[in-house]
Amino acid sequence: MAEVEFDRIADVYDDTRRALDSETLGGMMEMLERYACRSILEIAVGTGRVSVPLMERGFEITGVDISRRMMERAKTKGLPNLVLADGGGTAFRDGSFDATLMAHVFHILEDPLTVMREAARVSRVGVFALLRKGGLGPWRGYWGARDDAAGGDAGEGNEGVTEEAAKFYEARRERFRKLAEKYHWDWESSRRERHWEREAEILQSHPPDELKVVSDVFVTETLEERIDRFRKGGYGFMVEMPAEMREEMISQMRADAGSLPAWATRPRHEVYQVAVWRSERLLRELRPQPAA
Ligand SMILES: C[S@@+](CC[C@H](N)C(=O)[O-])C[C@H]1O[C@@H](n2cnc3c(N)ncnc32)[C@H](O)[C@@H]1O
Repeated sequence: MAEVEFDRIADVYDDTRRALDSETLGGMMEMLERYACRSILEIAVGTGRVSVPLMERGFEITGVDISRRMMERAKTKGLPNLVLADGGGTAFRDGSFDATLMAHVFHILEDPLTVMREAARVSRVGVFALLRKGGLGPWRGYWGARDDAAGGDAGEGNEGVTEEAAKFYEARRERFRKLAEKYHWDWESSRRERHWEREAEILQSHPPDELKVVSDVFVTETLEERIDRFRKGGYGFMVEMPAEMREEMISQMRADAGSLPAWATRPRHEVYQVAVWRSERLLRELRPQPAA
């Protein structure tokens, strides 16, 4: 269950995620302002990583989330209006807000289109989403045991090394499987399904009225920073991982450091875009179909 997973990682969530950079924040604000949106409902507000900076710049923010602990963190940062609710069905009246915002959430939702419809229902102007563009970069598959956790994708700008990347990831997956076996750690039941392809699917099935790149940065992270993030255990799949297994993985990371392929050590290319769908249009497109 997503709420359980996020309740358990709430204390380390912010420490294991990059803070919203000023370029992304500025781009998002510019879009909201251009559509004259001041009152915003963030669905899946989490710890307020996105909403708190918006509130500090004068936007009126309400947040909903299914994880109480994530929102407790948001509350300590000063977000006053927080409601425990599923984004697929809130108690707000039609058109209660100018806009609804969703950030980093489509891959988690069981039924994103129901949440999109609800977002459109409660917002007068439109539904805004902050989306990551392109692949997840070379580290995506480092810990994965399953094919879909890696996919042989060497990341944006590394298309030429796809075959090498596939081998690289497969070797890591194999090591990971062995380690999981050694520590009797059940990988399959340790993680919820992640639907990384969801954002692309939604953009294709319901092309936004506007889609704009708001930031394009290269993020450099040292091995020790990566290890620190991993040790803190801010990811749902690590919640039940034995501490010894985590430490052994860290030792492997250190041992690997000198022999990683060049592309795997490049700075991470992160491109963010904001999508906007007019509420009126989404409500027409996502109307529930009458039962046959
Ligand atoms: C990856 S976090 C993103 C939080 C925040 N938007 C950010 O960018 O940091 C995903 C959040 O979605 C929440 N969530 C998952 N499913 C949800 C649902 N059906 N309705 C509302 N919130 C949900 C989780 O509890 C978690 O706080």
